[in-house]
Parts: sequence; structure tokens; C-alpha cells
Amino acid sequence: MEDFVQNNKLILLGKLTAGLLHEIRNPLTAIKLNLDYMKMYENDLSDEMSESIASSLEAFDRVNFIISDLLDFTRKSMEPAKVSDINEITSRSIDILHVNADKKNILFVTELDKELPHIFLNENKILQVFLNLINNAIDASEEKSKIIIRTSNYTQNGVTGLHWEVEDFGCGIKECDKQKILDGFFTSKQTGSGIGLTVCKRLLDEIGAEFGFDSEVSRGSKFYINFNKSN
Ligand SMILES: Nc1ncnc2c1ncn2[C@@H]1O[C@H](COP(=O)(O)OP(=O)(O)OP(=O)(O)O)[C@@H](O)[C@H]1O
Ligand SMILES: [Mg+2]
Repeated sequence: MEDFVQNNKLILLGKLTAGLLHEIRNPLTAIKLNLDYMKMYENDLSDEMSESIASSLEAFDRVNFIISDLLDFTRKSMEPAKVSDINEITSRSIDILHVNADKKNILFVTELDKELPHIFLNENKILQVFLNLINNAIDASEEKSKIIIRTSNYTQNGVTGLHWEVEDFGCGIKECDKQKILDGFFTSKQTGSGIGLTVCKRLLDEIGAEFGFDSEVSRGSKFYINFNKSN
């Protein structure tokens, strides 16, 4: 019963967010038009004014990009699997979560293997997994710390695949909570729902990817995924 209530809340939230994003887009477009208009008269303006118009336009592009990405995300849950670039999905999730990280002055460090082969997956589902895991890392981190996101090729027992991980240096997970986390629907956060990791596990199970974590209290945590190359 609990699961349904939480799931429904999330679905509703998704719908509300999509509606809200559309609402935000209209006034943003008006702002953009006005900025473009001011830019046309750049020659009559002081350098400071031109600069502030340019930086406003840059800020607009950034917000617009994030909104498009989020709208895509809320729309595309049924999209088919296709040949995908894990590095690119990682960069997209970092772009989306930058704002949350900036609020705590957290630095994202990426160590992405450029030789990573593309694999067959549902990009949107993997984006959802990455967003959940990176978001948890942000929640666990102190102000001004860093979060490292890595990708690499791996070979284990003759099987080759793709490794993805996010490492934080935050609060870590208590021994007695580790099993509860794996069982799902567990939260230690006041406003958490405990659904994030449960969704990750389910989505990764669907494609037979291995999902796990290492964590030590007060040291931090590392959540990892091993994708099969046959995906
Ligand atoms: N990187 C992490 N560091 C420390 N604890 C973590 C980390 N990731 C997950 N946890 C623990 O696992 C619990 C479950 O995480 P999960 O993402 O499923 O739910 P949540 O973050 O609490 O809520 P939400 O549904 O909003 O994601 C968290 O409440 C937290 O206790
Ligand atoms: Mg979470």
C-alpha cells in the first residue's frame, strides 16, 4: 500500500513539474525577446550594459537547456532502448544537478573514460538512475566537499563491461542500515521517501546490470553500476 502511495506522489510530482516547466517557458521567452531587442542597440549602450545583456542571454540559454532536458525526462518514460553513450548521460545528469550542488558549494569532478563503447539502453531510465544516485551523494555531502563521478571499461572473470560510479565524502551509511537500504523503501532523511534507490535497483535489474555500494560512516560512500556490454 505504502509503495503505491509514494509512487503515485512521485508520478503526480512529475506531472506537476512538467506543467510548471511549460508555465515558466512563456515568461522566459518574453525575457529572451527583450534581451535580443536590447542587444540590437548594443552600439548605443555602455560596455557594462552590453556585458550584462550578454550574461543574461547566457543565463537564459542555460535555464532553457535545463528546462528542455527536464521536459524530455518527464515525457520520455516509454521511449525505446537505443545505442547510448553513458558519458553523455552522465554529463546531462551533472548539468541538471549543478544547481543543487552549487547551493552547497559542492564540486563535481568527472573522470570519464573517453574510450567507453556505446551500449544499448533506455537513456531516460539510466538518466533517472544517475540523477537519484548523484542526488543522494549531494544530500550526504557537507558544504564545500566534492563528488567524483567515474566511468571505465572493466573485465571481470573474462566478462567485459562498463563501470559507472559516484563517490562522495559525506556522512556514509551505518552498518545497521546497509541491509535496509538494499531491501528498499528505507529513508534516514526527514523529507526523504526512500524510493530513489528502490527505483534504481528495479531499473538496473531490468537490464541485468549489477548495482552495489561501499560505504563507511563519516568517510563517505561509493555507489557503482556494472553494465554488460551486451546491453
Ligand atoms: N550517498 C549516500 N550517502 C549516505 N547515505 C545514503 C547515500 N545514498 C543513499 N543513502 C541512504 O539510503 C537511504 C535511501 O536512499 P533513497 O535514495 O532510496 O531515498 P531518499 O534519498 O531517502 O529519498 P528519495 O526517495 O527522495 O530519494 C537514504 O535515506 C540514506 O539514508
Ligand atoms: Mg534519494
